[in-house]
Amino acid sequence: MAKPPASQFICQACGCVHRRWQGRCDGCGEWNSIVEEIQERAPPLGTKASASARGRKGRAVEFVSLAGQQDNPPRLSCGSSEFDRVLGGGLVAGQAVLIGGDPGIGKSTLLLQATANLSMNANCLYISGEESVDQIRMRASRLGVQDRTVGLATATNVADIQAAIAETPLPAVAVIDSIQTMYVEGIEAAPGSVTQVRASAQELIRSAKARGASLLLVGHVTKDGAIAGPRVLEHMVDSVLYFEGERGHAYRILRSIKNRFGPANEIGVFDMTEAGLMEVSNPSALFLSERQAGISGAAVFAGIEGSRPMLVEIQALVAPSPLGTPRRAVVGWDSNRLAMLLAVLETRGGINLAGRDVYLNVAGGLKINEPAADLAVASAIISSCLDVVINEQTVIFGEVGLSGEVRSVSQPDARSKEAQKLGFKTICGPPMRGKKAKSAASKKDHAHFVPISDVAGLIAYLTEGAVN
Ligand code: TYD
Ligand code: MG
Repeated sequence: MAKPPASQFICQACGCVHRRWQGRCDGCGEWNSIVEEIQERAPPLGTKASASARGRKGRAVEFVSLAGQQDNPPRLSCGSSEFDRVLGGGLVAGQAVLIGGDPGIGKSTLLLQATANLSMNANCLYISGEESVDQIRMRASRLGVQDRTVGLATATNVADIQAAIAETPLPAVAVIDSIQTMYVEGIEAAPGSVTQVRASAQELIRSAKARGASLLLVGHVTKDGAIAGPRVLEHMVDSVLYFEGERGHAYRILRSIKNRFGPANEIGVFDMTEAGLMEVSNPSALFLSERQAGISGAAVFAGIEGSRPMLVEIQALVAPSPLGTPRRAVVGWDSNRLAMLLAVLETRGGINLAGRDVYLNVAGGLKINEPAADLAVASAIISSCLDVVINEQTVIFGEVGLSGEVRSVSQPDARSKEAQKLGFKTICGPPMRGKKAKSAASKKDHAHFVPISDVAGLIAYLTEGAVN
């Protein structure tokens, strides 16, 4: 008698496999995320099928030397220098890219604009499993790209899409919007389940690579921000990009998390307008555009995002708390790092934060994860707490250690140069020696460098030196 197909219990949030159903996933701690999925069984031992599957004698793999002629792969431009930079110079033939982001952030818009531009040099297919052809046409006319030669289709069956990709002349680019709507026939799991997402992505990537076509996959994200479906999706593709931004803000940031064809952690900045996404070539100016002078609790941080320096305003508010345990709320920065910094300020700097709420915000909806922001965050908190205004022509960067010391950070020159380009006159950072200190503040721009060696030094400087 044929055995029933094996089933597995897979967490839809992290892809962890369990032997039986349980309410909470041991892997990620998520509740109610485990779903039973039918697995394809391997042919039973002893049958002909299994003998041919397992019994093939191995042929030794051929090895070659490390040296060899390797040209840089030709790149297809997506028509926007921001998108191209995030990809490492453009799309490579056969590259599989996964683009994640919250619903409504603008993934479909970004990809429709990109395919419209790519269609000048490549054969583009835009396959949607979510929207109707009419909806996409409406968006295309809103973006003013309705005349471009992009093949548009609604489909969800992976085999049909593979056949279409196989027929498209090279260079070819296919957009799949989204991988959660695709299904492989013969797999008894619903579209969007871990098994289906994994199988669909595997099939599509395999056939696109075999053909030499580039593949852009849209992936939905779960509520804690990871691409829904298994982590393995991130391993299968060549590049993983996240499209981020705050709903209320018009800025959108495309960030590369992984890239086999270029640097990771590169970002591209866009502005969502009535007529689609516009690239922002000078993000520092944009992030500082709504700054108000003469207010305590604001500091400008000179950060590095990918290969680019970027200035952002950090705002802090320290207010008396009605609660027994005061609130610490953070937008755009790591809350654990804030807790650490507050402890350092209290212990090493004598700043009294007991019984006071602390709110921290990175203006413009940017998310910062550099430790180099410590000193600017500390400055904003001190400024709000002691009600001293930081001079508006001051930028700050530096990492703060547990003993209150300020540590050096990467690329101080690039940070200082960007600040000077935007007219900042004072640069506060970790002490630098010799040449570095000289180049950090060039005489020509009348900027000067203020070395800050510890938290106590920062408090002394802010309360005496930087007051307007
Ligand atoms: P969309 O690309 O559909 O998001 P996703 O595919 O990530 O779910 O973007 C939808 C949002 O973008 C919607 O709220 C409207 C807005 N939008 C604009 O502001 N301007 C435009 O030109 C377009 C096409 C969309
Ligand atoms: Mg969409």
